[in-house]
Amino acid sequence: MMSKVLILPGDGIGPEIVAEAVRVLDAVNQKLDLGIETEQGLVGGIAIDAEGSPLPESTMEKARRADAILLGAVGGPKWESLPMVQRPEKGLLGLRSQLELFSNLRPAILYPQLADASSLKPEIVAGLDLMIIRELTGGIYFGQPRGVRQLEDGQRQGYNTYVYSESEIERIARSAFDTAMRRDKRLCSVDKANVLEVTELWREVVERVSADYPEVELSHMYVDNAAMQLVRNPRQFDVMVTGNMFGDILSDCAAMLTGSIGMLPSASLNAKGQGMYEPIHGSAPDIAGKGIANPLATILSVSMMLRYSLNQPEAAQLIDQAVGRVLDQGLRTADIMSEGAQQVSTQQMGDAVLQALD
Ligand code: NAD
Ligand code: IPM
Ligand code: MN
Repeated sequence: MMSKVLILPGDGIGPEIVAEAVRVLDAVNQKLDLGIETEQGLVGGIAIDAEGSPLPESTMEKARRADAILLGAVGGPKWESLPMVQRPEKGLLGLRSQLELFSNLRPAILYPQLADASSLKPEIVAGLDLMIIRELTGGIYFGQPRGVRQLEDGQRQGYNTYVYSESEIERIARSAFDTAMRRDKRLCSVDKANVLEVTELWREVVERVSADYPEVELSHMYVDNAAMQLVRNPRQFDVMVTGNMFGDILSDCAAMLTGSIGMLPSASLNAKGQGMYEPIHGSAPDIAGKGIANPLATILSVSMMLRYSLNQPEAAQLIDQAVGRVLDQGLRTADIMSEGAQQVSTQQMGDAVLQALD
């Protein structure tokens, strides 16, 4: 079976980390004869510069016919003064929304070799294996009305709207319960139901869906407490499900538990199984062009792609094992560097993963 993967490197460190991930994808494709075909496209700032839009129609067409998309990151200081609707980030948000990639899986797994790269004590993070499920196409990111308006007293007011419909909550809840069923069967739904009606409804719908999953132990937590608990005792969680903005924030926090934001991959899935795969971090303008970015989050995103969209679990496992081996060898990019380890560049890390595949 042939499958098509669209590669969207984007901006900043995007092209550097994606280059390594594509080498790994090509290698397993060849080794296991997976029949994967790749093509390249433009999104983000680089697409603005080349075509005047962060998400050109040509990219959208390629995205629609792809089985899976691998994306680096978008954005950077060069485009920050553009009006909101023309910014690189709109390219990413447009892909998520137009492809209806509502279910965003962000696994935070601590590789035992990195216990001392975490900013928390090793005994608190050892064995961490947490899945954050973030709703990705609704909530305050997409709610209408939005904008900046003129008030009668002469000043301006910025506003966004936090909305979720029952069907939007129900489908992300099902996605979360299904995931919990394949794991430790514990689901924590994170909301702000003590203040926001939208999340009061969220809690009610999640409760309702739970009736179909009697084996899953469901709990609810307010987001402020959840942020605290993630740092206090992260291993209490198995699967967390939450809305778009809370999920964005909590997943960056969870990333640091694993040693670095450069370690966290993600999958964004729609109802058809089509998916977009990207590291959860951004374009890291502060280190772009230096060859020091950690490519492992992007390489692990390829592994998630093979598992979730291309139905190649063996190839995925091969990559996961190779990453483990490279960490065993003591190779570290700057962000996960620790005493006694050997510091390597982005490309050397890619080389090492390629070697470890054999
Ligand atoms: P960021 O994630 O780009 O960087 C935060 C910090 O983490 C920086 O110090 C950076 O050097 C470091 N970092 C990130 N990835 C790393 C890696 N692979 N290896 C080593 N260190 C890494 O977040 P930011 O600085 O807030 O945002 C920069 C730009 O990226 C903004 O334009 C933002 O909108 C965009 N952004 C894009 C995405 C995306 O495309 N998915 C995600 C987040 C931010
Ligand atoms: C992420 C990013 C994006 C988000 C931005 C760049 C639009 O932070 O993928 O986590 O907020 O979703
Ligand atoms: Mn984010």
